[in-house]
Amino acid sequence: MRTKVAIIGAGPSGLLLGQILSKHGIDNIILERQTGDYVLGRIRAGILESVTIDGLKRAGVTENLEKYGLVHTGCELVFDDKSYRVDFEKEVNRHVVVYGQTEVTRDLMNARESIGATTIYEAADVALHDVDGENPYVTYTKDGQEHRLYCDFIAGCDGFHGVSRQTIPADILKTYERVYPFGWLGLMSETPPVADELIYLKHERGFVLCSQRSKTRSRYYLQVPLTDKIEDWSDERFWEELRTRLGPERSANLITGPSLEKSIAPLRSFVSEPMRYHKLFLAGDAAHIVPPTGAKGLNLAASDVLYLSDAFMDFYTNDDMTGIEGYSERCLKRIWGAERFSWFMTNMLHTFPENDAWSKKMQEAEFNQLFNSEYGVRLLAENYVGLPY
Ligand code: FAD
Ligand code: DHB
Repeated sequence: MRTKVAIIGAGPSGLLLGQILSKHGIDNIILERQTGDYVLGRIRAGILESVTIDGLKRAGVTENLEKYGLVHTGCELVFDDKSYRVDFEKEVNRHVVVYGQTEVTRDLMNARESIGATTIYEAADVALHDVDGENPYVTYTKDGQEHRLYCDFIAGCDGFHGVSRQTIPADILKTYERVYPFGWLGLMSETPPVADELIYLKHERGFVLCSQRSKTRSRYYLQVPLTDKIEDWSDERFWEELRTRLGPERSANLITGPSLEKSIAPLRSFVSEPMRYHKLFLAGDAAHIVPPTGAKGLNLAASDVLYLSDAFMDFYTNDDMTGIEGYSERCLKRIWGAERFSWFMTNMLHTFPENDAWSKKMQEAEFNQLFNSEYGVRLLAENYVGLPY
């Protein structure tokens, strides 16, 4: 088999890249380790920046987003008993859209199926070969048989635990990492959200995020110790803890119900450089991870894909290598900005087990300074809605 671009992974990065390339006549094949249903079953992000919406527009996949996406022009940040609404429209004249990663993924999968582009699900033992040579190819096993896919380029869109990044020689790849001493316990329920807008809240018992997927579906997160297991958290315990952290006034509007999904995610900051090695390009979580506090993971994946699809289109239509050669540098500028913001939001709003009294005072002073300064609020709004693409 032969294609122009072999894409590893059918998460949002791989599917978005595939759809944009197909729309522009650039042949591609996606290899995915899991089944399509498994990929759709992972509940993850929910906030889209304009860069992600631009990507979906370029892919021609915005019909449902336009119908069901909720425009949010602000969010609330709470630190102990202090609360501040960040007005994105007023500060930077922009907004974000609430629309789930599951829905983005489903829309992209359906669009791919309707144009008849190939995705090979349950492709096992994917391995990349000759990425620094003239004839790169990918091998994989499907139904017990080994296959070989020849290509011009390989896009490693296979997430943090994928194989693509590991193909880059250790003496070339440089990684930067911070692991946080807690995780997020997420719960999805078919109940109206506790508030119209998202609430990011710091309580001494831990961080809370009140998010949503629609006017009737809520997504809540609680900071929990890394040692906690999902079996430790019955729905009743989750709602009780959420109520305690939200306090009586906010939780007066809380409507509870059975969980549709519950999971614990560890928090990590991670960047690997460079994002290109000869014919191999990394995009999305394969190259970088942010802690979810800034809602940046999915949006960064989308901006990588926009840069990468630009680069491939320039190469195939104009024989221009500029985008390909500058890919890593272009992406990393935006990535480090988002890494800083996600790290900052995580540090300011979580309860760190090792923090002494001084560190707690510094967290509070940071929050106060941010909201006592018009520049502070604007900087936060500018980062939250997404740094320039
Ligand atoms: P992924 O979504 O990880 O997709 C990679 C795909 O590659 C997967 O389908 C995987 O099965 C496949 N794959 C892996 N290895 C191989 C292989 N060897 N061969 C073939 N295929 C392979 N972001 C936010 O903004 N907000 C959130 O609340 C949030 N919550 C998250 C919760 C969790 C548990 C995780 C893991 C991430 C979360 N994120 C969140 C981050 C966001 O979901 C990711 O940034 C986004 O999914 C990145 O998309 P991706 O396509 O690059 O990677
Ligand atoms: C969601 C997740 C986030 O990490 C975030 O910052 C905002 C929203 C969500 O899942 O809805």
